[in-house]
Amino acid sequence: MNIEEQLWGASLLPCDEAGRAAYRTYLKPYVAKLLTAIGLDVTYHRGAGDWLYYLDDAGCERRVLDMIGGFGASLFGHNHPELVARAQAVLTHQRPMLVQASARSYAGLLAQRLAEMVAASTGHLYIVTLTNSGAETVEAALKHAELTRQERIQSFIDGQQRMLRKIRLGISTGAVTLPDKLFDQAAALLDVADIPDLDVLHFCLTEHNLEQLQEDTSYLAIVGSFHGKSSGAVKLTHSPDFRKPWHHLGIQVNFLPRNQVDAVWSAVTAATVICYELAIGDDGVVQINPTTWSRIVGCFAEPIQGEGGIHELTSAFLGALRTAADQAHFPLILDEIQSGMGRSGTLLAAEASGVAGDYILLGKALGGGLAKQGALLVRADQYIEEFGYLHTSTFAEDDFSAAIGLAALDLVTRDQGALLQGCREKGDYLLQRLRALQACYPQVIREVRGRGLMIGVELIPQHDSASNLLRVVSEQNLLGFLTCGYLLHEEGIRIAPTLAANSTIRLVPSAFIQERELAHFCAAFERAVAAIARANAHTLTRHIAGWQAGDEAVPQQFDFCEKPNFSPSPRKPTTRRVACIAHFIEPADLLHWDPMLAPLSSAACSQLLDKTHVVLDPFLADQARIDGPWGEQVEVGVVGLPFTAAQIMAHIRRGDGATVREQIEAAVDLAKGWGATLIGFAGYTSIVTNNCQLLVEDSVGLTSGNSLTAAAALAALRRSACAASIDLATARLGIVGGAGNIGRVLAECMVNEVPQLTLIGRPGAERRLQRLADELKRQGATVMPQVSTDLADLQSCNLIISATNAPEPILCADHLGAHPTVLCDVAVPGDATPDLATCRPHVQVIKGGIMHLPHQQELTIRGMALAQGEAYACLAEVILLGLAGIREHFSYGPLRAERVQQIGALAEQYGFGVKVRTL
Ligand code: F0G
Repeated sequence: MNIEEQLWGASLLPCDEAGRAAYRTYLKPYVAKLLTAIGLDVTYHRGAGDWLYYLDDAGCERRVLDMIGGFGASLFGHNHPELVARAQAVLTHQRPMLVQASARSYAGLLAQRLAEMVAASTGHLYIVTLTNSGAETVEAALKHAELTRQERIQSFIDGQQRMLRKIRLGISTGAVTLPDKLFDQAAALLDVADIPDLDVLHFCLTEHNLEQLQEDTSYLAIVGSFHGKSSGAVKLTHSPDFRKPWHHLGIQVNFLPRNQVDAVWSAVTAATVICYELAIGDDGVVQINPTTWSRIVGCFAEPIQGEGGIHELTSAFLGALRTAADQAHFPLILDEIQSGMGRSGTLLAAEASGVAGDYILLGKALGGGLAKQGALLVRADQYIEEFGYLHTSTFAEDDFSAAIGLAALDLVTRDQGALLQGCREKGDYLLQRLRALQACYPQVIREVRGRGLMIGVELIPQHDSASNLLRVVSEQNLLGFLTCGYLLHEEGIRIAPTLAANSTIRLVPSAFIQERELAHFCAAFERAVAAIARANAHTLTRHIAGWQAGDEAVPQQFDFCEKPNFSPSPRKPTTRRVACIAHFIEPADLLHWDPMLAPLSSAACSQLLDKTHVVLDPFLADQARIDGPWGEQVEVGVVGLPFTAAQIMAHIRRGDGATVREQIEAAVDLAKGWGATLIGFAGYTSIVTNNCQLLVEDSVGLTSGNSLTAAAALAALRRSACAASIDLATARLGIVGGAGNIGRVLAECMVNEVPQLTLIGRPGAERRLQRLADELKRQGATVMPQVSTDLADLQSCNLIISATNAPEPILCADHLGAHPTVLCDVAVPGDATPDLATCRPHVQVIKGGIMHLPHQQELTIRGMALAQGEAYACLAEVILLGLAGIREHFSYGPLRAERVQQIGALAEQYGFGVKVRTL
């Protein structure tokens, strides 16, 4: 029996494969894509202690050392035997789970145990509210703080009511007097027109006071905080990514810079307001006394921030928060959901500072890794009894979770706190090893932080890496994820960066982890760090690419491996920036862009892009500076999309052009941000945008670059026809891809230069081809072009231009005739099979749409594998328009013959030349 059968019985097999697919479809489509991209989409079928188990593609069980530890919740490891036994016992004895509104003894005992332990840590007595999660615990704390404030305000208002009655009584007996100017003074103080009597005075004071106390109230939290994602907690969570969509919801929060004591006092001062109260002086005269209040309702702080990147709050800062809370009468709420339960080496991480919270929040490990359990502890002298009635939930206080929570607390306290000591010692060991590693690799590790078994290692983004991929991954904040993917697949170690601080890897293993396992982790982590330091992109990514030793590698043909040139010398003030958006043509171009990926195979390159394009944004792939003939200069940036031509076509064919278009729009934004005033669309990006027309842009010029592609192809065809003694006046020209944008304009340009023209398209394109032929005739063509969808009709042609969008070659030797022929292949990727020229020696196959730059300037763009001195004409058009100062849309929408001629002439004027490359 396999594991699944044991678990579910033969009839009920929710196999992991089906479950994984269901997760992708029904549960978290977006998250699933991210997990796939970084190789974390693994289904673990078993967890025991510090190890997790999964089946690899071959069905072999692989084990993984878990250093993520359930984001801190697995303090006792997975399925700790004592906790499992406790859970089993509760179930076996049929303890009822849901008996709300009864005296629930396990929950009571858990509350008592918690209160006693926390009292030993803080010296204060607390009352406990049990919850189901960390976020709910935060919500409960928010609500209790708000309730406290409202009760205080109500008691102030009630006191003033009583005072009003006392004054009235006093006046009636003569014991109290109203000073003559009291009403005038009050009117001036409160900025009201007239106060005629005592009742109006009381009314105006109450109005003023309520306005001061109820408006613009706020909470304090700390930069880098994470308190959960429910609608209240998320407002206290600092990361703008998490908070922004809920901008209009709920409470106001003021985030204090971490560990800056002065900021605490500034915030308190800024939130101080003055209220006025009626009083009777010792002399029996009525007075109006000012009192100060704070608009701060409560202050949340994690003694050691977790999700925000492992940052400890200093004792001085915590102390300042404590003093501020006492002076301004708001509760200090210490969120120990992650740092508490002993992980830091003491029961509460705040213990080290000597600061006790008015409220203390626990969660995560309190459920023993088996149950969902949180707890809010409020100091007994601040606890409002009705809160137990006002904050309830169906599932809270269940006996199952409480019984496990009690067993978890036993594990924390037994053997004179051996677990706490273990956390301290193991934490010290890790810190010392990791700091030694940092000393060896200061270029990779910025800082090692934390206390006990709550440690963060901050990586340095590799902006100058010799690997282009590592540079881009760093720019896009993905270096931490890449490192984690490597460690999982190559080293069998599960770690993760924190989401709010992607460069920091968080280590929160179980308290029972062994030193040899920590040593194993350190050695593996060192290999990852060394790979980053050596820009070894291959090692770090081959698991995503599915590469295995022995796979056939793409032969290396490039001779450059130096660092990319991303900080060129200062440009002239007149230099214009133009950009070209491009994608990889063939999978192996990835190696041209980043030779550090070698020796990946072509299939591996393809898989790498397939998996990563979901998470990789467009990137600045390369940039170069080009001089014009008269001292002008342009800087051209190539913005890369993480796709190959075939991948873009696959997207289009399954009706998902939108994904590619979104990436192109992001690329346009990147180019604009880089300073481009004109943007070109190379390769399939012009098709996806319907020749730029689907982009709405008026601040920059757009061009597909295809007018110059057409001009260059025509020039190459004419030149080669002449060299092959094929006279245009008698030739038969076939245009493959005749219904496409380039094919149409080529037909328009050539229709009156050759006596016979055949337009060839894909089956299904007949009507479009015929419409084009009719239009050409209407425009004055001397002969009616023929249309065909059969490539064999090329056999009668001695001049052929091929300009299709096919991602694979479509023209082979059998399609061509036996007479001397020139075939100009404009398509990228090419239309002609690589062996065509060899099989048909009488056919001269040339690459069309290739140019050289003025003054024979070299343009080496990584990722565009062209020969030295060559540039794609579409890129040349962008450069040319830049040099000529043209910033309007140029090759926009359908190409036009006069634009082709115009750009051809301009290119000549600026010293651009057509390259004829024979294949
Ligand atoms: N408070 C802290 C300090 C937390 O770390 C978390 C969760 C919460 C509250 C919310 O708890 O998820 O049970 O609702 N932290 C996780 C993390 C998500 O990745 O650190 P929850």
